[in-house]
Amino acid sequence: MEVIIQHDEEAATVLAARIIARRLRAKPKLVLGLATGRTMERVYAKLAEMHRKEGLDFSLCQTFNLDEYVGLAPDNRDSYHFFMKEHLFSRINIDIRNTHLPNGMAADLEKECENYERLIANAGGIDLQLLGIGADGHIGFNEPLSALKSRTREKALTPATIRQNGPLFDSPDKMPRRGLTMGVGTILESKQCLLLATGAEKAEILARAVEGPITSMISASALQLHQRCCIVTDEAAASRLEEKDYYRWVFENEPEWADFRK
Ligand code: F6R
Repeated sequence: MEVIIQHDEEAATVLAARIIARRLRAKPKLVLGLATGRTMERVYAKLAEMHRKEGLDFSLCQTFNLDEYVGLAPDNRDSYHFFMKEHLFSRINIDIRNTHLPNGMAADLEKECENYERLIANAGGIDLQLLGIGADGHIGFNEPLSALKSRTREKALTPATIRQNGPLFDSPDKMPRRGLTMGVGTILESKQCLLLATGAEKAEILARAVEGPITSMISASALQLHQRCCIVTDEAAASRLEEKDYYRWVFENEPEWADFRK
């Protein structure tokens, strides 16, 4: 795991977008794992800007989103299908047939989850998985006690997630109580993970995920097991990390990050 601390939210977001862009330029047929939420909204705005201004090309890229609410149709404004179209897919040159999200309206949700795993495998696995972290430490909708080997499945959402995401709904009581999500095991199989966390409200849970013990109570802590995981944060989200000086030293000295140091 590597931790890159940037001064503020803008710099952290730009860095995350640049890491994605570098991977996409190196491999135009990139299989990209995507997330939703407020943090990702800003990353997608940057990627759309890079597409517009620098010609960043998504035409051969395939995407797989982490999760979707159960019971929301793709054209529902609160669905993750809608979020992705609005914030990214309609703003870049991706072939919409190459974009995938679990279908929360499927008649047989279990089959839908099995099929989603199959689609990912058929694509050759995920090259780069983008992640945010929830108030309860979830990645995707992998709520506390999600098995570290879990696969794509239906999951009940916790009160913490309902508090976190409820305000994004026109009427918070309409927020579904269940979601479909890639499992922690599915996420750990991606070739590279990039987690972006910004803002003081993420500081405590980020420190527990990065520097605390690996536990199914905090799904993001499972990323400590990943062979290639990078955490990008701003100073506010990094404020509870104890080894900040060491992380800064690594970032300043690793040749891999030379292009990103400016
Ligand atoms: C959603 C997802 C979640 C979010 C997390 C943070 O697809 O993967 O894990 O990344 O809940 O959400 P924000 O960015 O809104 O704080």
